[in-house]
Amino acid sequence: MQDTQNIIERILELKEERNAVILAHNYERGEIQDIADFSGDSLGLSKQAMKQEAEVIVFCGVNFMAESAAILSPEKIVLLPEIYAGCPMASMITAEALREEKKKYPDAAVVCYVNSTAEVKAESDICCTSANAVEVVNSLEEDEILFVPDKNLADYVSRFSTKKIIPWEGYCPTHNQILVTDVIKARKEHPNAEVLAHPECKRDVIDLSDKVFSTTGMVEYVKDAGNEFIIATERGILHKLEKDNPEKKFYNVSEYTVCPEMKAINLESLLLSLEEMQYVITIPEETRVKARVALDRMLEVKR
Ligand code: 13P
Ligand code: SF4
Repeated sequence: MQDTQNIIERILELKEERNAVILAHNYERGEIQDIADFSGDSLGLSKQAMKQEAEVIVFCGVNFMAESAAILSPEKIVLLPEIYAGCPMASMITAEALREEKKKYPDAAVVCYVNSTAEVKAESDICCTSANAVEVVNSLEEDEILFVPDKNLADYVSRFSTKKIIPWEGYCPTHNQILVTDVIKARKEHPNAEVLAHPECKRDVIDLSDKVFSTTGMVEYVKDAGNEFIIATERGILHKLEKDNPEKKFYNVSEYTVCPEMKAINLESLLLSLEEMQYVITIPEETRVKARVALDRMLEVKR
């Protein structure tokens, strides 16, 4: 207990010394969300990264999130405390493979979910997050959309767009393994609960859910909604939901909704990151400039 307290104090001291700000995704460990200056979804954290005046951004999330911060704030030092914290979905597409796919659909606009590498973003026309994917797709002039890399988010967007959506075959392993039977079982156990799903879930799970949101969308929705919720996304979000709403009840849709990559950073690695100034995320300038165009176009889309 004392050790943990010492680590927390040292992190806070070093944060001041280094003029650093700590950003954490909603799926991070509870203790990481608690020590962060800001926690949020991918869209919210990208916006936070841009407006920070600190010289150092310590990004507690996975690699693509820290990369986005480095793309948007090249003048800052961006640290990812666990260099191997990566997103399996982002690894399901390479820039080379995307270049080949683009040749097949020369008239299509490429919409790239932010869960992707900087190189893939650099090959894309515009980025999106789970919070703005529908608005981004519908903002485009093109009628054909190559949507990468999440096939489930592509399918979700296709419900709200008349455009022809051509999906990449990627997916999030954590959301893709949530089954209809999980939702049915959870509903039986908690008949008064509303089911909130993330759009990375499969269509049949989404069909059985009451509402679909990004993680911050869930955080906002539950404030003024009912009292019981079944959550069909990564379980780290329950930390914030329970903390903000101690009188309400939240249930994970199944026992398997864990993204190990999002649990990689702990207080010790966060402290080490600030002590050693590791691991610095850098993007080759040519890639950064191209990826920035795709991210900037996304940030200009009205929600
Ligand atoms: P959001 O928090 O943007 O909904 O992102 C979900 C996700 O999978 C991040 O890895
Ligand atoms: Fe990637 Fe899914 Fe983990 Fe998010 S939850 S980092 S999409 S594997």
